[in-house]
Amino acid sequence: MAFYVTTPIYYVNAAPHLGHAYSTIGADILARHHRQRGEDVFFLTGTDEHGEPVALAAEREGVTPKELADRNARRFEDLMPRINASNDFFIRTSDPRHKQRVQEFMQRIYDNGHVYKGMYEGWYCPRCADFKSDNEIAEGNTCPIHRIPLDREDEENWFFRLSSFQEPLERLYTERDDFVRPRQRFNEARSFITGGLNDISLSRSKLTWGVEVPWDAEHVFYVWFDALLNYYTALSFGAGESDRTPELWPADLHVMGKDILKFHAVIWPAMLLAAEVELPRHLFIHGYLLLDGEKMSKSLGNVLDPFEVMDKYGTDALRYYCFREVSFGQDGAVSTAGFESRYESELANDYGNLASRTLAMIARYRDGQVPHAEADPALAADFDGLAEEVSELLDRAEITQALERIWQRVRRLNRYVEEQAPWKLAKDPGQAAGLDTVLLSLAEGLRVVTVLLHAYMPETTQRLMSALGQDDGFAIGTGAFAATAAGATVTPLDPALFPKHA
Ligand code: MSP
Repeated sequence: MAFYVTTPIYYVNAAPHLGHAYSTIGADILARHHRQRGEDVFFLTGTDEHGEPVALAAEREGVTPKELADRNARRFEDLMPRINASNDFFIRTSDPRHKQRVQEFMQRIYDNGHVYKGMYEGWYCPRCADFKSDNEIAEGNTCPIHRIPLDREDEENWFFRLSSFQEPLERLYTERDDFVRPRQRFNEARSFITGGLNDISLSRSKLTWGVEVPWDAEHVFYVWFDALLNYYTALSFGAGESDRTPELWPADLHVMGKDILKFHAVIWPAMLLAAEVELPRHLFIHGYLLLDGEKMSKSLGNVLDPFEVMDKYGTDALRYYCFREVSFGQDGAVSTAGFESRYESELANDYGNLASRTLAMIARYRDGQVPHAEADPALAADFDGLAEEVSELLDRAEITQALERIWQRVRRLNRYVEEQAPWKLAKDPGQAAGLDTVLLSLAEGLRVVTVLLHAYMPETTQRLMSALGQDDGFAIGTGAFAATAAGATVTPLDPALFPKHA
């Protein structure tokens, strides 16, 4: 089984912020989970380097677009290991191998008769790199996203016959009701299509920073055509020695924010249909992280610096917080205060303390060895089917819901400690067998939640697994509650998994 998952490729006209980290971590959690299932995973991320936004930013800074792209692509590339993203490749659209494949693909669309020359007249946002239709224009001809005046464009362009895909796209949305998730975004995409599609510009002649149109050297491709194709071109040169398109295409999942729904849910499938290439299986559209009630974005200048948070609290805490606080798929507010509160009450207390206490009790009462005993059937029953349930939720990219199910068990284990009070059992030699059961059950419960939390918090779970004396890896099949932990030698955690901060 193969699993191919992507993030959007990020514009290099500014530095990475938490919004970019968010999409990437979301895709990473899914990639890691599928690896735990033993699948052949390919996880792609990268940078979108052409187009007017980059050309304009470079001009403002007095450097060439390529210089700006090199500098900023580097910052995105460096972000990946910092957030523990396990991407298999990082694509840059300025890569000549990508450019060549874009030209081949677009030539096919041209040869198939879906392109013509025409005159474009209308409103254009240079920051979105998007030609706006009438219902996408805010008061005073401004961009509703960037709040800047739109440019009146009047130029001869090559056009893509998007309108001729109206019917095939309607059919796609009728036949595949899980093509776009969540449902609200599916409905949005479908109504955009049923509202009537207009042909769109495929090239720009006033710009040179882009991929040259092979049949007309005066033009470069409109940046979205070049950008969307990254998902397809990367497989031919970024996935190993050979071209892996046959095994990995169609992509299983494109993850992105709702700002770029239209491009992925309407234009991208039309491009693929035009070139007679299979469509991706699913799109997952997440919401915005909001700061002070507004979308966190470079143009609005209200960004939370993920590096600061990670320096102080660690990468895992950031990964956890983003998906716990904001339901993946919805908009949601993030804040430093919210982060600190969840860090203390959930990571340090619920999970960290459970781990420290369990290991300490096994050390004290059983000389560091998890007893050989039967697991407590009542506790075991509360873990029944958990690994399967988590897998099913993650199959639908329901990352927050899956995390909630796991966390219910973390809390269940804390209640179990309180109910059983092992420190009392330890005082009574007649309760030795009972204490064995409790300690084994706690170690086993902790092991199971740690297997399931691995995709979310790879570093912390690795540490805890070693402390539990279980270095056999994180295969999802080991996520069943049995007596796997029995007999292992445990070591105390020092420092704690999530140290308290003043
Ligand atoms: N280059 C295009 C995408 C091309 S994909 C073929 C682009 N780049 S971007 O740098 O603007 O990144 C947009 C993406 O970053 C969003 O779709 C989303 O995935 C992520 N986010 C940026 N800000 C965000 C938030 N405040 N909240 C959540 N996600 C955010 O668009």
